[in-house]
Amino acid sequence: MKISNTSLNKKNVGDIVTLYGWVNKKRDLGGLIFIDLRDRSGIIQLVINPESKIYELASTLKNEYVIKVSGEVVLRKEANKNLKTGEIEIEVNNMNILNKSWDLPFDLNNMTALEDTRLKYRYLDLRREELKNNLIVRHKVLQSVRSYLNSLDFLEIETPILCKSTPEGARDYLVPSRVNKGCFYALPQSPQLFKQILMMGGLEKYYQIARCFRDEDLRADRQPEFTQIDMEMSFLSQDEIMSITEGLLYNVFKDVKGIEIDLPINRMTYDEAINLYGSDKPDLRFENKIYDITLDFKESDFSLFNNIINEGGIINALVFNAADKYSRKDIDKLGEYVKIYGAKALAFLKYNGNFSGSISKFVNEKIGDSLIKKLALKDNDLILIIAGDRKMVKTSLGALRCKMAKDLNLIDKDKFAFTWVTDFPMFEYSSDEKRYIACHHPFTLPKNINSLSDKENAKAYAYDIVINGYEAGGGSLRIYDPDMQEKVLEELGFSKESAMAQFGFLINALNFGCPPHGGLALGLERLVMILCGTENIRDVIAFPKTTSASCLMSDAPSEVSLKQLDELHIKLSE
Ligand code: AMO
Repeated sequence: MKISNTSLNKKNVGDIVTLYGWVNKKRDLGGLIFIDLRDRSGIIQLVINPESKIYELASTLKNEYVIKVSGEVVLRKEANKNLKTGEIEIEVNNMNILNKSWDLPFDLNNMTALEDTRLKYRYLDLRREELKNNLIVRHKVLQSVRSYLNSLDFLEIETPILCKSTPEGARDYLVPSRVNKGCFYALPQSPQLFKQILMMGGLEKYYQIARCFRDEDLRADRQPEFTQIDMEMSFLSQDEIMSITEGLLYNVFKDVKGIEIDLPINRMTYDEAINLYGSDKPDLRFENKIYDITLDFKESDFSLFNNIINEGGIINALVFNAADKYSRKDIDKLGEYVKIYGAKALAFLKYNGNFSGSISKFVNEKIGDSLIKKLALKDNDLILIIAGDRKMVKTSLGALRCKMAKDLNLIDKDKFAFTWVTDFPMFEYSSDEKRYIACHHPFTLPKNINSLSDKENAKAYAYDIVINGYEAGGGSLRIYDPDMQEKVLEELGFSKESAMAQFGFLINALNFGCPPHGGLALGLERLVMILCGTENIRDVIAFPKTTSASCLMSDAPSEVSLKQLDELHIKLSE
């Protein structure tokens, strides 16, 4: 059995050992040759004397050669405190080169290589400490999740990968069927319908480490192929589902990080999250809430604000104690930034006992006093103000809040800030589809079946768990009454026929004694990103895709032969 490098320490001095690994670094000091031998566990120093019979062989070694060595464990004259094995080294007297390596396309010990190069040679990148550790964290999270859910009597059940395409949600990845001409499977965007059917099948508590596929625009925290910690439970209330999830997170953070998180996790409604933080996934590692100052400006002489208020708009502000750090030019740049979110302009005030800034001439004594009180103003406060329709104002200030916190270094990187966001809207308007779609999914239980026609205000039993500004997971109670399911699908614009064609199997199952049920799915990658402190989802996936959904190592997706297309009855258009 191979022994790992870091299992050796000064207790082993005098032992003769055989080790395997990669040449991480070679130093030829004229006389002695020193080699850092790396295996998965870490590094140990090898030393080769000029008198040794393998001295010549050792001098031919290059980085990343794979070698087998044997020799005696000896104490180092000077310990290297940065190395776990720093008190010892191996005096090598036998060595075999098991494999050579070409010159490397990038230096594994100096991370300046472009990400594309690292993705192309992923097997080399995986040899780096950072990626290896991220995958170890991922492994530990899965072990912790399984052991916690097993202890609560959940069953791990797999659901199909070749599924029926359903029109709701993101774009599907389609797989043509050879046997059923003209028909396609879809890869699952999540196991949503199957896990509900498992509840109808009487399994009561299900979980799965489920691979999901969504053909959507990719971002730093999105991949086309990702993994959910997927759960569904029967006969439990929303509070009980949330508390089981909190227990899961508590165990994961304890097992992986040794941190005991405070329970219960703070809750806020969706409306509160949007009002105070301009986001349904507020980053609570810093305060800086959004203030509504519409009323304070109600009687000002500023016609632009007056017009906006008269048209039903709002005026909101953020405050940062950093007026001295922002010149007019810097604030103009922030104004450019918020334009991405639809804001036409960013007004500002600086407070230093009195007000200066772009709209200071409209701040009379009364307005000034009420701003000082409402915003609890201190010297050196910078007040950033956006006016306009509510959605745009909240979104722009929400994004600006996070940008400012980053720029001003207000985010404590060692902090984990959790919150539940509850009472999500039932529907959201899709400007792409020019209709209302389900905000979570069409199987979510509405708070009030009689208010469904009020699309803007209808709320659902839907909740997200948010960590450090990431939507780490989301879930809902589900509809278990067939009539209610039909009504919701009708509100979403499905005719009876099209609802049956798409979801007939679910609607039928609802009619055979369906238990009340609900669930939640955590994004495994997001959770691991948060635990590893990385903002790049590719850092926590062994073989990730690029933002154009390709794998640079294996070259997927790729063209296929005409014969393959023929068998699938597919002709490519020009
Ligand atoms: P939802 O669509 O909110 O819910 O997804 C649940 C969680 O999955 C993660 N996630 C992603 N992670 C990486 N890349 C992506 N493209 C991606 N999309 C989503 C997020 C998200 O919170 N079936 C429901 C859950 C339920 O109701 O039980 C669902 O899929 O962390």
